[in-house]
Amino acid sequence: MKKNITDFKLKNQRVIVRCDLNVPIKDGVILDDTRIKACLETIEHLVSAKAKVIILSHLGRVKEEKDKETNSLRPVADKLSELIGRPVKFVPYTRGMEVENAINSMEPRDIVMLENTRFEDLNGNKESGNDSELAHYWASLGDIFINDAFGTIHRAHASNVGIAKLLPSGIGFLVKNEIEKISSALNNPERPLVIMLGGAKVSDKIGVINNAVKIADYVLIGGGMPYTFYKALGYNVGLSIVDDSSLEFCRNIYSQYKNKILLPEDIVVASSISEGASTRITTYADIGSNEVGIDIGMATISRYKSILMNANTIIWNGPIGMFEIAKFSQGTRKVVEILSSSKAKIVVGGGDTISALNKFGFNNKRAHISTGGGATLEMLEGKELPGLSAISDK
Ligand code: 3PG
Repeated sequence: MKKNITDFKLKNQRVIVRCDLNVPIKDGVILDDTRIKACLETIEHLVSAKAKVIILSHLGRVKEEKDKETNSLRPVADKLSELIGRPVKFVPYTRGMEVENAINSMEPRDIVMLENTRFEDLNGNKESGNDSELAHYWASLGDIFINDAFGTIHRAHASNVGIAKLLPSGIGFLVKNEIEKISSALNNPERPLVIMLGGAKVSDKIGVINNAVKIADYVLIGGGMPYTFYKALGYNVGLSIVDDSSLEFCRNIYSQYKNKILLPEDIVVASSISEGASTRITTYADIGSNEVGIDIGMATISRYKSILMNANTIIWNGPIGMFEIAKFSQGTRKVVEILSSSKAKIVVGGGDTISALNKFGFNNKRAHISTGGGATLEMLEGKELPGLSAISDK
C-alpha cells in the first residue's frame, strides 16, 4: 500500500505537492475550475497541519516559446487563492533565485505556486522527459513530496516521478480517492459490471477493449467506434468514421467475445455531420454509401438501458454519439438520464464524457466522476501508473 498524506508529520515541513491544475483557460479566464477544487482538500489539510505548501503543476503542452504566453499558471494561482481564501504567492519561474527566495522566506501555512512545470520542456524536454537534474533541483526545494495529480499519474515527469524517488513521498486525498474508486470498480466490482465505451477512434481504446472483455460482463460500444466493427464484419458503412488500422483487431475480438460486446443494432445516419443534415434511423446492415452513422437509435437505447439498469457497477468513457450537435445527441443524453437514476456504482472518466454529463444535467451524487482522462483510460487498460509506482510504500 502506498503512503499517503496522513502518514507524515507535516508541521514546519516544506511540502511539495504536485497537482493537476491543467484546466481550460481562454483569454486568461478559467473555463472550468473542477480540477482546482478537487485539490483543495489536500492543500487545506497541509495548511491546517502548518506545512509550507509548494505547488507544482503543468498546464497544456509547451513546445515553443510562444506557448508560454497562453500557458502561465498565474490565473490558476489567483483562482486557487480565491477558492481557498488565503494568499497564494505565484512565482513566475520554474527555477532560480526568485524561486529559492520565495521558498526560503515561507512561514508555516504559506502557499507558493511555481510557474508551469512544462516551461522546462523548452529546455530539452526536461519536465516531460523526467530529467534527473531537474528532479534533483526541485526535490532540493522540499522535505516531503505529495502527489495529488491524478490526471497526470500516467505520465513519467520530473515533477511527479522524478521528485517522488528523491524525497519521502505519499499520495494526496484526490489521488487516494480516485485510485480506490476506480480500482474497486475494476478489480472488485459488484456484478454485473458493464463497461461502456464511446468516442471516435478504436485505436485509442484497443488496450481498454482488450482488458474490458476480460473483466466486464458486458461491453457496450457507441460513438464512432461501431463502424470499424461493422466494416470488419463485412458491412458497408458509407462515410462513417472507420479506423482502418483496427479492422483486424475488431474482427478478432468480436469473434472471440460476441456474447459480451454489444454493438448498436439501429443507428442514426445523416447526409453530413451538420445541424442541417437530413437524417434517418436504420440498421447497421443498411447504411447508404453517402451516409454517415452518428448516433444510436431507439432500439439500441432500450437494449443498452435494460443492461445498464440491471448493472451493479458501470464504467463509462467516451460519448455515445456526436452530442455537440443537437440532432445527434439523443443517445448520449439518454445514457446520462439512465445513469442519473441508476443505483449502480458508477465511474465516469474522460473530458468529453464529463462535458456530456454537465450538458445533460447528470444528477447522481454517488457516481465517481474522475478528474483524469488519459489516466482513467490507462487504469482501464490495466496498465501500471508511473506516478503511483514511484510513491513510497507504507
Ligand atoms: C490531462 O488533462 O489529461 C492531464 O493533465 C495530462 O495532460 P497531457 O495529456 O498533456 O499529458
